[in-house]
Amino acid sequence: MERPPSPGWPFAVSGGWVYPACMSEPSAPDVEIRIEGLTKAFDGHAVLRGVDLDIQAGAFVAVVGGSGCGKSVLLNHILGLMQPDSGRVLVADPTVAEGPLLDLAVLDADRMSDIHTHWGVVFQRNALFSGTVLDNIGLWLEEVGHLDAADIEKMAQRVLAAVGLPSSADFLAGRVEALSGGMAKRIAIARALAMEPRCMFFDEPTTGLDPVTASQIQDLLLSTHVDERDGKARTTVVVTHDKDLLYRLRPRVVMLHEGRVSFDGPFEAFHASTSPIIRPYFELMPVLHQRGHS
Ligand SMILES: Nc1ncnc2c1ncn2[C@@H]1O[C@H](COP(=O)(O)OP(=O)(O)OP(=O)(O)O)[C@@H](O)[C@H]1O
Ligand SMILES: [Mg+2]
Repeated sequence: MERPPSPGWPFAVSGGWVYPACMSEPSAPDVEIRIEGLTKAFDGHAVLRGVDLDIQAGAFVAVVGGSGCGKSVLLNHILGLMQPDSGRVLVADPTVAEGPLLDLAVLDADRMSDIHTHWGVVFQRNALFSGTVLDNIGLWLEEVGHLDAADIEKMAQRVLAAVGLPSSADFLAGRVEALSGGMAKRIAIARALAMEPRCMFFDEPTTGLDPVTASQIQDLLLSTHVDERDGKARTTVVVTHDKDLLYRLRPRVVMLHEGRVSFDGPFEAFHASTSPIIRPYFELMPVLHQRGHS
């Protein structure tokens, strides 16, 4: 794995940690997500071949890599939507400050959905369901948060404002099927924000959008990274192919290649890398915005 030169190496790599296979792990201050030796194959085709990664609370991480390299598969493992062939995904316990990390593999369905209530996920295709804007934003608030109708409407208005959409009664009653791709993306982000999550996950949030809308969504990723109520940074993980997003947001970059983390470090080091794996990938990443970058 290529690492940027120290000093200034701010990120721990989790290789070498050995824990007994039990539900709880020793406390790991600031670690939000820890991935250890993750492997996954489909029909004999190895996609993840041993991914090790620590993501600290409050980090902004972009996961990049060629099409089909396993970015979405990795995200699905973090979300507990796929089970590893081997290795583990550990996450911070949202109910206990600086408590032991939790191994997703041994959590029961109730505990898993409890964790999901603290995470906001924006899937590539938004995963909006047929219905109104308010239905979409309100579903989880009602089912999981048990909020009443008045509180759901208040929250919907707040998160719609946060993503730059109208919060009028007409807009709330509008059908999501009628929305443009960019607006649908904003609704999906608003719905995720409504859960007041500690972590936000995005799978290719700007793919398929026009350049202006894409840049607005990039700015939104940055603004939603910070919880407006207390100014505290959320943990944000973005799977992306969007080179412009990297230039604008300058995140920590994690590159997957041949099933492993081939680079993990600040954008500046990724940008400057002369690695024969990174250079051609970076050069060929799509640029949505035709303007100068340095
Ligand atoms: N549920 C599944 N069943 C079988 N194969 C799968 C499944 N999910 C993913 N794969 C395979 O795993 C590989 C990695 O897929 P993944 O969707 O993670 O790629 P990706 O890096 O997200 O690509 P893209 O940038 O195109 O979205 C692909 O070969 C894909 O066909
Ligand atoms: Mg994908």
